[in-house]
Amino acid sequence: MGKSKPLRLLQIGMGGWGRSWAESVVPKLKTVKAVAWVDANPDALEAARQALKPPKKSCFASLENALEVSDVDAVLITASAVAHAPIAIEALKAGLHVLVEKPFALTLEDAKAVIDVARVQKRTVMVSQNYRHQPAPQLVARLVQEQTLGQVGVVQVDFRRDNMYPSPDMAHLQWAQPLLLDMAIHHFDLMRFILQKDVLELYAHAWNPAWSLYRDPASAAVNLEFENNTVVNYRGSWVSPSPVTPWAGEWKLGCEHGEISFTSRDNNVPDTVKIRKCGKREQKLELPNLEFVGRVGSLNAFVQAIHTGTEPATSGRDNIKSLRLSLESIRSAQEKRVIHLER
Ligand SMILES: NC(=O)c1ccc[n+]([C@@H]2O[C@H](COP(=O)([O-])OP(=O)(O)OC[C@H]3O[C@@H](n4cnc5c(N)ncnc54)[C@H](O)[C@@H]3O)[C@@H](O)[C@H]2O)c1
Repeated sequence: MGKSKPLRLLQIGMGGWGRSWAESVVPKLKTVKAVAWVDANPDALEAARQALKPPKKSCFASLENALEVSDVDAVLITASAVAHAPIAIEALKAGLHVLVEKPFALTLEDAKAVIDVARVQKRTVMVSQNYRHQPAPQLVARLVQEQTLGQVGVVQVDFRRDNMYPSPDMAHLQWAQPLLLDMAIHHFDLMRFILQKDVLELYAHAWNPAWSLYRDPASAAVNLEFENNTVVNYRGSWVSPSPVTPWAGEWKLGCEHGEISFTSRDNNVPDTVKIRKCGKREQKLELPNLEFVGRVGSLNAFVQAIHTGTEPATSGRDNIKSLRLSLESIRSAQEKRVIHLER
């Protein structure tokens, strides 16, 4: 693929989120051209066909079938999480670059296997952590790195949704670890992005409040000790009676000389960032104007990494650290003990 030619993209997994990628994300970048769409479920493939009106012979039931007839540079994996690692390995072995939705894999062993194949094949594997590509986290990460209010000592993160009275057949209720794996991975990844530090140890408590209809814990509280005595208190819930937060949550960063607070990824309200210097009034900050936001930002970072031959910020090698925070939080909650994370 030359730098002037668009990246030829095959997308696999055409469920609700996959169709949203195909309709409102991929077409936004001139540097990408979608050439094939795959789903193992004929109904999902047909729904995608109806929505996208793609050229003939561009929709397939498997990656293997698609690759027999399509010229492709990269694969975007938006299939169910259980299929992420096997599809990524198949695509990498076929010599293709891979952009995969979160969670990257369901076990660390599977994630490591993907990273190893990418290294051997000399191909890029990147996880789309779209929450990083929002104005507030971008600005706050810069404020923290520049130590605008000095060092960060304590961080509070609250995420709340109100699925208190869902329809009992809602699929989400049966998902494995709907909070700590499927959702909190975004928040854990943002902690790593903003603090640019590693976690030394964590302790998690996860539960279902009496009214929860979820199979696995819908609520959790996690304490994470990052390097240099920075502690994060995380509270998340799918079944909270309190007002909902934006998807990225409500954050407060306690620093040496004051507090930084932010919210991000609300469906209706723009991101906000405020700082309050000790003894002074709170001040709302102007947000950076990002050229590519959310998933478009992820896709653009993927294309740029391939063009420049550099490792993207959320490469598989990096993202396994965020995945590990989810998986170790689940283990901590199940075994009711502190988990030490050796480097
Ligand atoms: N980043 C975000 O903000 C965000 C938001 C929503 C969903 N997601 C992620 O996107 C992914 C998809 O979510 P969804 O809600 O669309 O799920 P979904 O269950 O609606 O759709 C998944 C699709 O993948 C297909 N599929 C599964 N295994 C396959 C295989 N081996 N080959 C081909 N097709 C296969 C299924 O047939 C289905 O159509 C999940 O990993 C989810 O966590 C991310």
